[in-house]
Amino acid sequence: MKSFIGTDRELSRKWDAVLLGVFEKEKNPFAFLGKIDRKSKDFLEGVIRSGRFKAKEKEIFSVCLPGCTKACSVFLAGLGKRESFTLEKLRQVVGASLGQAKKYKAGSLGIELGSLRVPNVSVKEISCAIFEAVGLGLFRFNKYKSGPNGKTELRELGILCGKFDEKKEVKEGMDLGNLLAQAANWARTNAMEPANNLTPRIFAERAKELAERAGITVKVLDEEQAKELGMGGFLGVAQGSGEPPQFIVLEYLPASAKGKEPVVLVGKGITFDSGGISIKPSSGMEQMKYDMAGAAAVIAAVWFAAKMKLPVPVIGLAPACENLPSEKPQRPGDVVKMMNGKTVEVVNTDAEGRMILADALCYALRYKPRYLIDLATLTGACRNLFGEYAIGLMGNNRELVALVAKAGEMRGERCWELPLWDEYKEHLKSDVADMKNIGKGVAGAMIGGKFLEEFVKDSPWAHLDIASTAWFDENHGYISRGPSGAGVRLLAQFLTDLSK
Ligand code: BES
Ligand code: ZN
Ligand code: ZN
Repeated sequence: MKSFIGTDRELSRKWDAVLLGVFEKEKNPFAFLGKIDRKSKDFLEGVIRSGRFKAKEKEIFSVCLPGCTKACSVFLAGLGKRESFTLEKLRQVVGASLGQAKKYKAGSLGIELGSLRVPNVSVKEISCAIFEAVGLGLFRFNKYKSGPNGKTELRELGILCGKFDEKKEVKEGMDLGNLLAQAANWARTNAMEPANNLTPRIFAERAKELAERAGITVKVLDEEQAKELGMGGFLGVAQGSGEPPQFIVLEYLPASAKGKEPVVLVGKGITFDSGGISIKPSSGMEQMKYDMAGAAAVIAAVWFAAKMKLPVPVIGLAPACENLPSEKPQRPGDVVKMMNGKTVEVVNTDAEGRMILADALCYALRYKPRYLIDLATLTGACRNLFGEYAIGLMGNNRELVALVAKAGEMRGERCWELPLWDEYKEHLKSDVADMKNIGKGVAGAMIGGKFLEEFVKDSPWAHLDIASTAWFDENHGYISRGPSGAGVRLLAQFLTDLSK
């Protein structure tokens, strides 16, 4: 898609459609449209006076101007009250306008920046949010559909700024927004990929291909190396699959941050979760191809840091394997020894995420992390708690939890903190081993977090359960149903904030 940055003057260029934001109950709602002709302005004001369009949030009204401007359609987007307009609402509005563009077969869309101001937010951030929403909104996964898809897609997007000197800021925002969307879309593509075409080996290859091009060092530890390291949790899960496990390690160590302690990101990379012997019901099991969304987010975030040349060392760890039953699977009741020497009774083979993450967290400690963050589609319980509307956030360090939540807020990835009370630890007591891998069937999301906490020693650590948001069953404005790229932009923001 072509992008174009111009001034209001270019409103008179021939756009298939133009997006104008309108705040509720404001006098002179089109005052910013200095460059538009009298007749068009009168007409648009007439639409509002008629009461057909009230500029409430989520309201969108498409009109054809009576030949005054050259745009075929004008999308009037209701923004609600000015003081409560946010970057996330802006992304939603842009997403809705993409839907309208599709409906009206518009190949080019001009966005009037002056009409979409978020209070107290820079032009760069506003422009970034627009391009994030466009990049995410135009994501498609058609590789397995044969035949041409006859739908009109957006070919050109223009940002029309009020002042000429805003162009530079708009451009910076555009580059950032495009990069964020690209990172998230990489994660979405891989989460969408069927498990027969995204085995742990193929996933590792793809990670390598992406990361090495950005100058990141990539190592992939194989089964032998995992054995030498004593990763009994990881190997136990992988045991039932004919596909060998892959422990993916990305190291972004910029010269600009020599000697600094790294941020270590850990992501769950189960390329397919059947549940193993504790097998899942068949209905919906096909979705468990996205059980590697945490790993994909981590890889995409390290890539983002490298592309942005952030002065922060970042390590990405992604244990990848399949969880399958077979003639040699892990059995319920098996006891395995983890990398730190702790023994775990595997009561339920479907609680496999924590088993592979625990070993990865032990491995992470070798880097003496400044911050340690894991991301995982860990529990159905988290999805039951929040629906698709928040990430479950847990941690042992107030400062880190606050930083993560703030980064999520900034990028429209809401986090909600869950407690790691000591009582939950009691639920993990085993009669035969140091601990077992499930609790009593209550407080599942926190029990999952509590289990992981046992492996991080005193490192400042946060755990993000993205089982809630990694897959959308319904459209969420600029992110359509399917894999959402959960955690990618949050982590990108977190790393950016650290480099300030
Ligand atoms: N991958 C699943 C969690 C999941 C469920 C992710 C739904 C996304 C949507 C995980 O490995 C799992 O099966 N967890 C079990 C844990 C239980 C056995 C303690 C669960 O949530 O039922
Ligand atoms: Zn599972
Ligand atoms: Zn799983």
